[in-house]
Amino acid sequence: MNVIITKDYEELSEKAFAILRDVVLKKPDAVLGLATGSTPIGLYQKMVEDNRRGGVSYRTVRAVNLDEYVGLSPENEQSYRRFMRENLFDHIDIDLKNTHIENGVAPDLKEECARYDALLRALPRDLQLLGIGANGHIAFNEPGTPFDSETHVVDLTQNTIEMNARFFEREEDVPRRALTMGLKSIMDAKKVLILAVGENKADAVKGMLDGEISPSLPASVLRLHPDCTLIADEKSAALLK
Ligand code: F6R
Repeated sequence: MNVIITKDYEELSEKAFAILRDVVLKKPDAVLGLATGSTPIGLYQKMVEDNRRGGVSYRTVRAVNLDEYVGLSPENEQSYRRFMRENLFDHIDIDLKNTHIENGVAPDLKEECARYDALLRALPRDLQLLGIGANGHIAFNEPGTPFDSETHVVDLTQNTIEMNARFFEREEDVPRRALTMGLKSIMDAKKVLILAVGENKADAVKGMLDGEISPSLPASVLRLHPDCTLIADEKSAALLK
């Protein structure tokens, strides 16, 4: 894994943007795997600012997102679909028809997982962007998720529910289940970019790089990827030698 340590969040977002920009400039119809959460917001702001200035165009880019809460419709303020529109899609020249995310209110969730896997096969990702959970999860692949998993329904761990409660009015409002790309689906991307920010990610970053490659720390699987870059700010990299 290539490791880049930055002094702060601003530099991390700039470096992440440089990598994403390069992918899209080389391939204007690139398929980008995108993430939600607080980590990529700085990168999304860079994309928006640059796009407004007439920089990189996303007109022919396709986007597939990692995950969505079960039970939240695309219009729900807390849905990841809405997050993506508010933080990125509504502010760049991407065609919304080319943006994809699991349907959290699909009547048959198993069928929805199969539909999403077929979509992922049809749209091989040129770049997969990831954040990392404090427990080492990537997407909603919690500790114990098999490395060969594809899109599936997960019960969120208490740790993840508590972490995500900051986006909701009350902790009870955080959905207990989600649809997520699996670890195999993530590993299928040609290139992976994982971002880590803040001291509460330091144990997960250390475990990912120096611990055992094991489902008990899902992000450790990325060490088996041929083209994966970690950009970590100094705080999240504090435990690395
Ligand atoms: C988001 C996702 C999650 C987050 C992770 C870190 O789509 O799949 O795995 O990347 O929970 O979240 P933040 O960035 O909020 O610290």
